[in-house]
Amino acid sequence: MIDERRRFLQWLAASPMLLSASALARPEYAKPETLKQALNIAHLQQLAAANLNLDDYHFIVGGSDDMATTAENIAAFSRVKIRPRRLVDVSQVDTSVELFGQRYASPIILAPVGNQMRISPEGELATARAAAGMQHLMISSMMTNYSIAEIADAGRPGWLQLYPSPNREFMAYLLSVAQEAGCETVVLTIDGPTRGNHEAERWFRMNRDKTATSAGIRLGNFEGYKGRKGIGDPSMTWDDLTWFRANTRMNLVLKGIVTAEDARLCRKAGVDGVIVSNHGGRQEGNGRGTVDVLPEVADELSGRMPVLVDGGIRRGADAFKALGSGADAVCVGRPYLFGLAAGGQQGVELSLKILDSEFKRTLQYAGTPALNTITKSHVWS
Ligand code: FNR
Repeated sequence: MIDERRRFLQWLAASPMLLSASALARPEYAKPETLKQALNIAHLQQLAAANLNLDDYHFIVGGSDDMATTAENIAAFSRVKIRPRRLVDVSQVDTSVELFGQRYASPIILAPVGNQMRISPEGELATARAAAGMQHLMISSMMTNYSIAEIADAGRPGWLQLYPSPNREFMAYLLSVAQEAGCETVVLTIDGPTRGNHEAERWFRMNRDKTATSAGIRLGNFEGYKGRKGIGDPSMTWDDLTWFRANTRMNLVLKGIVTAEDARLCRKAGVDGVIVSNHGGRQEGNGRGTVDVLPEVADELSGRMPVLVDGGIRRGADAFKALGSGADAVCVGRPYLFGLAAGGQQGVELSLKILDSEFKRTLQYAGTPALNTITKSHVWS
């Protein structure tokens, strides 16, 4: 049984379906066994694969249907090339970014991810400590195992992400919880009118060793609310945003915008920011890569509100390509989850260190000593 599992993991680690392009670029002999040996996000992914049950590993890497959107996010970044400028003074490089009046050391943000105790015992607390220590913004999901108050205590309040619920009282409760924890920005994820079809995760859950179950993990943000909850509201429309506007003074950011048409509606609705996102390919399974989508959204919104993007960023250079394509900052999901699985808080820190140093190196090569010097002319596709 153990041999079978090991053979499967070896096959998985070599599978181009599940590894990013950067994994394929690694020397064939690179098979890291410790955190210290991990040089890139692909190495952290190999460690994660070795540490997790198959269904928990697929909780991270899985996408909807045939995972075409997940793969396209990564492929789209590899099609964008950098146009570096020479003889620019890059002896001092400033990677910091300001969002809603707060400055962060890096434009690489931790995307909202629920249920992180499935990945590592300390779950979101480990992630929050790593993010705060390195001055990165963390967006907490409403689906976390620890509550936003506990996460804010461990790190910083950051931003809280919500899914729409048909029960407005529950939404109002979550908004008040976010505000009490000190959040100044709430992110509403609007790309999930129905649940994504994650077949690999379902398959391995069905067939898993039932003694090693991670079932029964708490959902910290739900504990103080005794009424009817309900997650996901397929009846929600743009008109419902007036309810959010009327019920919170926090900044409102919409996550899941992928067209110019919806970007224009964001302007009309008076939202404060957007995240160009297809949920890392975990919802609709036939989407465009987010870096391909980004320019049409940025053309509508840049300069009016922060435009963030996520999906498929596996190298610091990808973050640069996103900024050159119109983003103000980027979010990463799986990269830091691989770190979390590989080594808890230290693993998350390592994932951020790797991405930050790759990003800084790219700024130097491109001749762009600060984020506001990156322009469209620095990318080509
Ligand atoms: C997610 N994502 C997500 N998004 C969200 O708005 N709320 C959530 O609770 C979650 N949960 C979640 C769990 C897992 C395991 C993953 C991998 C992703 C999506 C996430 O915020 C982000 O959009 C993607 O992860 C970005 O793509 P990459 O960086 O993983 O390629």
